Amino acid sequence: MRIIEAKNYEDMSKKAAEIIAAQILLKPDAVLGLATGSTPVGTYQNLIKKYEAGELDFSQVSSVNLDEYKGLSGDHDQSYRYFMNENLFNHVNIDKSRTSVPNGLEEDAAKACADYDAVIAAAGGVDLQLLGIGGNGHIGFNEPAEEFKVGTHCVKLTESTIEANARFFASIDDVPKYAYTMGIGNIMAAKTVLLVASGKNKAQAVYDSFFGPVTPHVQASILQLHKDAIVIADEDALSLAREKGVY
Ligand code: PGA
Repeated sequence: MRIIEAKNYEDMSKKAAEIIAAQILLKPDAVLGLATGSTPVGTYQNLIKKYEAGELDFSQVSSVNLDEYKGLSGDHDQSYRYFMNENLFNHVNIDKSRTSVPNGLEEDAAKACADYDAVIAAAGGVDLQLLGIGGNGHIGFNEPAEEFKVGTHCVKLTESTIEANARFFASIDDVPKYAYTMGIGNIMAAKTVLLVASGKNKAQAVYDSFFGPVTPHVQASILQLHKDAIVIADEDALSLAREKGVY
């Protein structure tokens, strides 16, 4: 795996956008795996700038997102479909019919997950998967566990995640309790994986994931075994690895 150090969040975002832009340049009909969360927002802003400058064409690009809350429709402002529309899709010339997010409104979890795996397969697999990383090393909603899950699956959100999300909803009862997420097998099948990490609050996760043993207790650690994984981490996110003398 390659670790690229960025000076700060802005620099990380620029570098990540350059790599995604290069992917689209090399393969105009690339299948991008996309991520939500605060970290990729700057990357999307840089991609939008490139599109606006006439440097990037999304007209043939397809995308599959990592995850979605179960029970939320795409027009709910906390859904990941809504996030993608607001932060990227509404601002570039991507054909929205070629953008996929797990169907949060499908009640039957087994069906929702099988359908999503079929969507990924029908797209021909993912060329480049963008990822953030959780403070506990999670990728997508793949939380610390005894095992790595292969395909798309339904996850019960932890109490702390539900409590953290409550501020975005009218009441805690409205917060989704489950989410659909790609599995580690889906992520590992991407030809290239690009993980972005910024800030001191990610330093422990970066150290554990990329400088420690491969273990399902730190799900991102599996990326050490991927043949084309790129991590772009800023100085703060790499600070613990540097302190420990491993980077
Ligand atoms: P963040 O989330 O980008 O909002 O820090 C990352 C994640 O939890 O995957």
